[in-house]
Amino acid sequence: MGLHPVGIIGTGKYVPERILTNQQLEQMVETNDEWIVTRTGIKERRMAAEAEATSDLAYEAAKQAIAAAGVTAEDLDLIIVSTITPDMFFPSTACLLQTKLGATKAAAFDLSAACSGFIYGLATATNMIATGMYNHVLVVGAETLSRITDYTDRNTCILFGDGAGAVVLGQVEEGRGFRSFELGADGSGGELLKVGGGGSRMPSSEHSIATKQHFIHMAGNDVFKFAVRIMGSAAEDALAKAGLAKEDVDLLIPHQANIRIIQSALNRLNLPEEKAMINLDKYGNMSAASIPVALAEAVEQNRVKEGDTLVFVGFGGGLTWGASVLVW
Ligand code: UT7
Repeated sequence: MGLHPVGIIGTGKYVPERILTNQQLEQMVETNDEWIVTRTGIKERRMAAEAEATSDLAYEAAKQAIAAAGVTAEDLDLIIVSTITPDMFFPSTACLLQTKLGATKAAAFDLSAACSGFIYGLATATNMIATGMYNHVLVVGAETLSRITDYTDRNTCILFGDGAGAVVLGQVEEGRGFRSFELGADGSGGELLKVGGGGSRMPSSEHSIATKQHFIHMAGNDVFKFAVRIMGSAAEDALAKAGLAKEDVDLLIPHQANIRIIQSALNRLNLPEEKAMINLDKYGNMSAASIPVALAEAVEQNRVKEGDTLVFVGFGGGLTWGASVLVW
């Protein structure tokens, strides 16, 4: 892709210590462990401590990724933080992270594409390095979804968790690196998954709080149908653009929203479950953080070897989707 081959040269992850189990949720809303496990595959999720915000989670993951890449914070040219739960409106979480890291030479911005944000970030960073504009870019997916989740709404509160994953992108040798990106959006489906309050359309007010507009609202079943359709087709399109076949895939790293959505993508790609990285049982859906945390764990567990073909695929609010093929 482009003049210089670009790949991932370091990974990192951080999840908060506190665990929220299905059994604990049974005490909070009318649900049960069996329903949650069979409908979603989720058993527990992590919750940020009261004093922890998104940039704190991002910082821990970023430090690991920078160390793993064998670079220093001063080597970073750009920091992209993909998030829908920034510390605040502005400054951006990327700027807060830049100063925590001491990445004094880096430009910094946040990227908003919900659960597809990490793949959108990879595409942006890859093109900036491929063209020679930058050498090292830090891409972080970080979320504290617990802060925008209504723990009286059983349709949503069982799904989400907090965490952060990070990667450093840089030039790699010929034959390795990113082979393709497939990004998409359908804004007409925006109503299906949103936080409507607190922005310029509906500034925070007693009314917006009373009607819970500061929380996630989701038409779960409609999002489910969209996800099943788009996960398979986006992955297939990314493979076709890369000139590769389904049989070439060594590891699928999908967005971790629901085990049934992942299984349908595996069916479409004719892949056995062993060829997918699945950790939603431990963390639930961490939006933009799900894919980079799954990647960091795949690396930790030695599930990725030099020359392996990886496929990332995700979908989310917007609606948005993204897929990418990478030779490790
Ligand atoms: O990153 C993108 C974010 N969003 C997603 O990925 C969400 C995608 N959607 C899903 O994963 C699924 O749609 C859900 C897991 C959210 C729901 O599963 P579903 O199979 O689509 O169930 P449903 O919404 O059709 O609801 C089935 C029943 C309903 O009861 P009735 O109306 O049939 O009596 C719900 O009220 O299950 C009920 N229900 C629950 N029961 C126990 C909904 N939530 C719960 C719950 N515990 N937590």
